Amino acid sequence: MDNVQLIKKAMDERKNSYSPYSHYRVGAALLCTDGSVVCGCNVENASYGATVCAERSAVFAAVSSGESDFRAIAIVGGDESETDVMSDYAYPCGICRQVLREFTDPTAFTVIVARSVSEYKEYKLSELLPESFGPEHVTKEE
Ligand code: THU
Repeated sequence: MDNVQLIKKAMDERKNSYSPYSHYRVGAALLCTDGSVVCGCNVENASYGATVCAERSAVFAAVSSGESDFRAIAIVGGDESETDVMSDYAYPCGICRQVLREFTDPTAFTVIVARSVSEYKEYKLSELLPESFGPEHVTKEE
């Protein structure tokens, strides 16, 4: 599974976005270390605060299915009028960065933000969430 294939999956997943309020559609494709890919989209709610982002939808779906070892995530987001090429990169929000942090080594986990299959940027989670707080800070040795 290369970057382009992962971005294509995120683009495809974006079609499932439920975003009647913001009209901003986001798709995410999460690459697990076993090679499988779990996707998620943003799911909005009439009570706006109940909305869940695409990245967290993907993480929660993966964890729910028993997979919590992740290598990379590709994210594609843009207005519903945009289809193959987004006008901008959709960076993960702070809450999603923290949720990804829970399950990854931030210096190893890759975040790909894509405008299209050929135009994308790649980061380590630690670049987007430096000096982060994670499970090791609250997990006591037995
Ligand atoms: N959204 C995501 O899906 N991921 C992010 O990281 C940022 C925002 C969604 C939430 C909402 O449905 C829409 O984008 C506008 O905020």
